[in-house]
Amino acid sequence: MTSPSISTGHDVQHYIPVIGDIHAKSSLAYRATRGAVAVANAVQMGLAEAYIHGMELPDPVLRGCFNACMPIIFKHFPALLTPYEWVLKETDEIAAGSKDLMKIQYDLPQGMLNRMLGDGKLIYPKYSMGLWEKGATNLEQSQMHMIDDIIEKLGIQDGDNILDFGCGWGCVPNYILSRFPNCRFTGLNLSAEQCEYMRHKMKDPESYLSSGRFTLVEGDLNATHFDEKFDKILSVGVFCHIGNLTQSFRKLASFLKPGGKFFLHIITVRTPNNISSMFTHKYIFPHGRYWSFDSIPAHNKDLRTVQRWYLNGMNYSRTLTQWLENFDASYPEVKDLEYGMDFIKFRRIWRLYLIWFVANFASCDGETNGNAQYLMVHS
Ligand SMILES: C[S@@+](CC[C@H](N)C(=O)[O-])C[C@H]1O[C@@H](n2cnc3c(N)ncnc32)[C@H](O)[C@@H]1O
Repeated sequence: MTSPSISTGHDVQHYIPVIGDIHAKSSLAYRATRGAVAVANAVQMGLAEAYIHGMELPDPVLRGCFNACMPIIFKHFPALLTPYEWVLKETDEIAAGSKDLMKIQYDLPQGMLNRMLGDGKLIYPKYSMGLWEKGATNLEQSQMHMIDDIIEKLGIQDGDNILDFGCGWGCVPNYILSRFPNCRFTGLNLSAEQCEYMRHKMKDPESYLSSGRFTLVEGDLNATHFDEKFDKILSVGVFCHIGNLTQSFRKLASFLKPGGKFFLHIITVRTPNNISSMFTHKYIFPHGRYWSFDSIPAHNKDLRTVQRWYLNGMNYSRTLTQWLENFDASYPEVKDLEYGMDFIKFRRIWRLYLIWFVANFASCDGETNGNAQYLMVHS
């Protein structure tokens, strides 16, 4: 006797569009999902562009909309967050569209970005999440706590030779070099503006980047090779720009000594699929994507994950709230800088990005959209 068929969660995802894992769908449900995603995202983009071009919407209304919609989308319709098929698969290049990314984002006037992120004596601008849950009372402290957390989990020892892939303004190397007098760092970064900032610090006797223990490599991970091998590699907040985990892990593994460790810190989502957005792709992070929490350990050919952590998104929501406050407060000094567009439009784009992200990371009590860390070793 055969038992009656019971509908499982997998069956539901297979047959019903938009809900659940896109990869689990029948071809019909997949096509219906892609159609629904295209319509929803076109509407969302239309509204975003209306706002950018001057539609009046007070901040509390904007916040209220995001706070109401985002938890529902994250929980029930995560497929709506994958507007492009490339988000679902690996790209040909390790990092697609790097030049556009530098132009639209990382080579923006430093007078603006540095003010927004905070530019301290020890903590240089750091464009990644601060850790607030250990009692930090300001942005600088939250960033110190975040780097202390990385030092501990990666097990940094005095004397290590470390590579920072996507080193930003050199904040993490500067702080770690201040704590470990015999460590050496190499920072790899494609941003001409950020490299200029670090070259300046490398001549400043007060900076640990001038200690002779810091080497700057201005270049693209797509094309960079090193002759030396490193004890440790870290990468903080960069893999949202990486489209091919297989190739990037192969490359990073080739830079790592036998027995070396790689520490990957990323923005992540605990949804079935990776996510992106039409708005951020066009205006903020071209080709940017957020890897789902499980996608990193699923790629284990050259590097394998031995430990992983999820960090609650409230930490990022609070960091972004500080960045928005800094951005608003710096208006008189930054309004006349060169953005390649009228500052009024630029300001609306950036306020929309920051307000939206504050809400995203606070959605579902920070348990869905947060940061992830992976400790990896040679496979
Ligand atoms: C979000 S920022 C994080 C910076 C730094 N790790 C931090 O925590 O402040 C991302 C960094 O990656 C760099 N980057 C992005 N794509 C890159 C690529 N293909 N090659 C080298 N650097 C890249 C950017 O210029 C930027 O410095």
